[in-house]
Amino acid sequence: MTTSHALDPFAPDSPTHSGGAADGQSVIRGEYGYAVLDFALATTVLRDMRFVNAALTLMEQFGITDGPVHDFRARSLIMAEGARHIRLRTPLARFMGPTMVEDIRVELRTILADIDPGGRSDGPVDFNETVARKIPARVYCLLAGAPAEDAPLVARLSAGTLALLQRDPSLKDSILQSYDELFAYLTSLIARKREQGLGNDMLSFLIGQEIEGKLDAEELLSEATAMLEASSVNTSHQTALVVWTLLRERETWKRLQEDRSLVPAAVVEACRLYPRPGIVSKIASEDIDIAGTTVPAGSDVHVAVWSANRDPERFPNPDAFDIDRERVQPLTFSTGLHGCLGQSLAKVEMEEVVGFLLDRYPDATVVDEGTSIGHAGGRWLVDSLAVDLGPARAGRSVAEATP
Ligand code: HEM
Repeated sequence: MTTSHALDPFAPDSPTHSGGAADGQSVIRGEYGYAVLDFALATTVLRDMRFVNAALTLMEQFGITDGPVHDFRARSLIMAEGARHIRLRTPLARFMGPTMVEDIRVELRTILADIDPGGRSDGPVDFNETVARKIPARVYCLLAGAPAEDAPLVARLSAGTLALLQRDPSLKDSILQSYDELFAYLTSLIARKREQGLGNDMLSFLIGQEIEGKLDAEELLSEATAMLEASSVNTSHQTALVVWTLLRERETWKRLQEDRSLVPAAVVEACRLYPRPGIVSKIASEDIDIAGTTVPAGSDVHVAVWSANRDPERFPNPDAFDIDRERVQPLTFSTGLHGCLGQSLAKVEMEEVVGFLLDRYPDATVVDEGTSIGHAGGRWLVDSLAVDLGPARAGRSVAEATP
């Protein structure tokens, strides 16, 4: 392993490194700590539970060292390990299983028909603002059993709390404020549900777990909070990135129109090339040997997903968009016991947005002017996505929609 100042995984130009090991090095070291670049080693690190989530350390570096927000993070699902992690995660993961996800797919078609951005303007629409930013928070409301009118608040709180990952200490106060607001919102929603009676939604499920003595009240709030913060901001950026990619791959777009069963593979391939969470940061909980080097306890270890996802050893011709490649899941949703709990749901959201465009606006194209997409702090970011929707195809009914 070498010390490299040439490749900073957080630098805006980092994707100019083509992916995989750099000069034969799978791990590099810089002022930021260690960066893991190739797919095989990245997978190993993400599956090694001695590397723990970096979010608590990040908060502490911001000066949030005690109080309710620090306590929430310290005791949350993402910091839990071993038996406690299994106890917190397994029931929720079962709840998030295929039946629930497919039920949401059906509801999503109604939501998309409802927010259809066409017909409101003659020129291009900002697809990011009108669709991608709206869908995930609407889905969280559906999942949690919250009123649909709460969606703008959910979107704002998800973005406000996960701003932590921007690694900008000047955001400390607004992050704390977002968490306070989020705790107050969920506390009152949970209280209302207790009063009004439980349903089939996620909050009712978690309250049921508490009634059965499987969670305490603090864990119930913590699980609901972890799901809300993770639900929206990443999914909306990733949805816009997927649409931006697929609308520019015209050959693929044509194939998708002819064969909708290819949509899931197309979504995964777009997520591989442009992963919103381009870096998943961990902390070594003890001295750990990786690629022949001992990483000391307490070190920052950043898994460079954007690099691993373009590792030529794993994905031949890695910069090419190819929906026919051998199906290896990229690391966009991480992997291992802490891998994304909402990934099936997020994929369904993206598949349905793509299906909506294919059905309703098959001639849609990206307009470069008015589109602003960049890479910062290791993550792909979408500010705006101008889309010329073209003529609307009439008569897309919810029942007819694909797949
Ligand atoms: C495209 C959208 C999404 C992306 C790219 C994404 C990605 C990720 C990543 C990279 C992690 C970190 C895993 C690790 O630390 O190793 C994660 C964790 C998590 N995600 Fe997602 N996520 C998305 C959407 C969602 C949604 C929609 C939900 C829930 C509604 C969700 C819930 C969670 C939870 C609860 C965790 C923590 C799991 C644990 O620590 O056991 N995510 N996600």
